[in-house]
Amino acid sequence: MLNLGVLISGRGSNLRALIDACAQPGFPAKISCVIANNGSAKGLDYAKDASIPAFVIPHKDFASRQAFEEALDATMEKHDVQLVCLAGFMRLLTAWFTERWRDRLVNIHPSLLPAFPGVDVHQKVLDYGAKVTGCTVHFVRAEMDHGPIILQAVVPVLDNDTEEVLAARVLEAEHKAYPSAVRLIAEGCVNVFNERTFIAKTDDGAGIALFSPPLFSDRP
Ligand code: GAR
Repeated sequence: MLNLGVLISGRGSNLRALIDACAQPGFPAKISCVIANNGSAKGLDYAKDASIPAFVIPHKDFASRQAFEEALDATMEKHDVQLVCLAGFMRLLTAWFTERWRDRLVNIHPSLLPAFPGVDVHQKVLDYGAKVTGCTVHFVRAEMDHGPIILQAVVPVLDNDTEEVLAARVLEAEHKAYPSAVRLIAEGCVNVFNERTFIAKTDDGAGIALFSPPLFSDRP
């Protein structure tokens, strides 16, 4: 059983997806603690409902970024966390933290990185006219939304999509992608070499790290 520490800032739907996955028989991970950097994060309720230890560590209470991160780190060490999962955690982490948790720290981002890092992702995808988007689960490095990619899910962008409709379609994919990536890590199948990941589940990793919509020609 891999012990997860989940960091959130808001709604917490990805946290809920991880809680649901961990409740499935045979899932090789469990959530040891949840930390929010603000007390109004709605996701805290999901942790409480599932009787998972949940903490609020407000970044505003600390004089420096590293002091805040030391508090996160201490809480996770206390709960024997082995893999930190950022789930809508909207604070940039310093190199001190990302190096301390190197290859034991993952993030989910609602685009096909390296395209569209940052915020307002879905509007940017629509403005650009991209035909596909999706989400990315990756190991975290100090640069924002950057690090070895573990798994990506592709979803189509449709002509009449609004930002909200597209966000909802990507979020549905996120809720499958994040537990799938955590499962692969917990099963010891993900190796990082030269800043790329290799998935040891099959001979070539094919089909494991990609979800994709059917092409038009495949449709009835
Ligand atoms: C998710 O869409 C996640 O991919 C995104 O924040 C949302 C959190 O939703 N994260 C980022 O943009 C990180 N750069 P949730 O709180 O319902 O899981």
